[in-house]
Amino acid sequence: MSQKTWGGRFDAATDKRVEAFSESVTLDRRLYQQDITASKAHAAMLAEVGLLTPAEAETISTALDAIGTDIDAGRMEYDISLEDIHTHIERALITRVGDLGRRLHTARSRNDQVITDVKLWVREAIGDLDALLRDLQKAFLIAAVREQEVILPGYTHLQRAQPVLAAHYYLAYVEKFQRDRERLADCRKRLNVLPLGAAALAGTSLPIDRESVRQKLGFDSVARNSLDVSSDRDFLVEFVFCLSLTAIHLSSWAEEWVIWSTTEFNFLKLPDGFCTGSSIMPHKKNPDTLELTRGKTGRVIGALNQLLVLLKGLPLAYNRDLQEDKSALFDAFDTVAGCVSVAAPLVEQTTLRREVIASRLEDGFLDATTLMEFFVKIGVPMRSAHEAVGKLVRKCEQSGCRLVDLPDTAFEEACPGSAAGVRPLLGVANAVAAFTSYGSTAPVEVQRQLQEWTARLEQPIPAIA
Ligand code: ARG
Repeated sequence: MSQKTWGGRFDAATDKRVEAFSESVTLDRRLYQQDITASKAHAAMLAEVGLLTPAEAETISTALDAIGTDIDAGRMEYDISLEDIHTHIERALITRVGDLGRRLHTARSRNDQVITDVKLWVREAIGDLDALLRDLQKAFLIAAVREQEVILPGYTHLQRAQPVLAAHYYLAYVEKFQRDRERLADCRKRLNVLPLGAAALAGTSLPIDRESVRQKLGFDSVARNSLDVSSDRDFLVEFVFCLSLTAIHLSSWAEEWVIWSTTEFNFLKLPDGFCTGSSIMPHKKNPDTLELTRGKTGRVIGALNQLLVLLKGLPLAYNRDLQEDKSALFDAFDTVAGCVSVAAPLVEQTTLRREVIASRLEDGFLDATTLMEFFVKIGVPMRSAHEAVGKLVRKCEQSGCRLVDLPDTAFEEACPGSAAGVRPLLGVANAVAAFTSYGSTAPVEVQRQLQEWTARLEQPIPAIA
């Protein structure tokens, strides 16, 4: 008899090359726990509607648990002629309980089965990633609190722009990763619709109860259209997009710190445990962790692209192409989870080189915009104030000095009546203190944000199944 679950209509065995080409168990074995959970819910429902007796469902459920224990313990023998994890578990069930095992697949297809398993897996992955991202936010918050009195040059175009509090800088990343977490929660809402019961593509003539399975598996609703379900991988695209954006955030941060750790910048002291040396140049300390984080982003974006191209032009319902979704999903998740896991301790252990930063802080006219706003405050139209300060900066550049070094006469000339009030605004510390707007780097604003984030990140995360 054919080993295949679908062998009935075939005369000849599958070509060995095709078995190797088409197997997915090498990858989808990761879904075994989800496959068992979903199968147990399915069996219990079959008993509720009379397609199994309660005792039969109980026997199946107990055997499925035992198979799970076997797999946990590495006792499952994988065989590519059985294609995928679903067939392996069904075969193991038949081995354990005999012909009764041949009833589990009643009113079910691997098409709705696989997508139910994947949804359960992604749901867990979202929970895990949310916890990791929260740890990363906490690491940025710890750094923000530790370095809060440090003033950093803020950059646009990587040119010195305006001063910012270091706490404000770190909290900017807390915000980015907060959006990532919210996007994941949103993705989870849309994916949490039960596929099982759609069967192959058209549903079933058997009296199943999808609502019961929905409740057992913790889905929010039941998929309305069976034909849509078996081809729907939208949630995977969304999830891998979420992962891609997180990876992009990580890559920007990593790039920034690669630059900041150069001798030229020298803003950071990276922890030794997160750097490596050179086999030939004894003095080197390289920011490999940051570089790899930057580099791995390419893989994640590649996975997103893989999924989009996989789905493009695919006709409705199940097509075997869809099996190719797993490599993208697993690789993107593993990559991002790995990056976030090392980023959190790296952020927490990296300290600012305060003396170096302070020694060059007065370079680059970080106080120029504050000076311009002072001119505006005393009545000068903004465009005229901009031009006047631009001319003062040019004057400084010509004589190699800073705005604070200019004589009162220079300010009077640029903006009559300004000399009297200008001194308390010049210099970087004064410039920072002058900010007032909501969301700015104003010290009181930043303090408020630090307190809000501390309270928020200390909340226990709601458990996600
Ligand atoms: N292993 C397949 C997948 O991952 C599921 C099996 C459905 N196969 C089929 N021929 N209907 O997509």
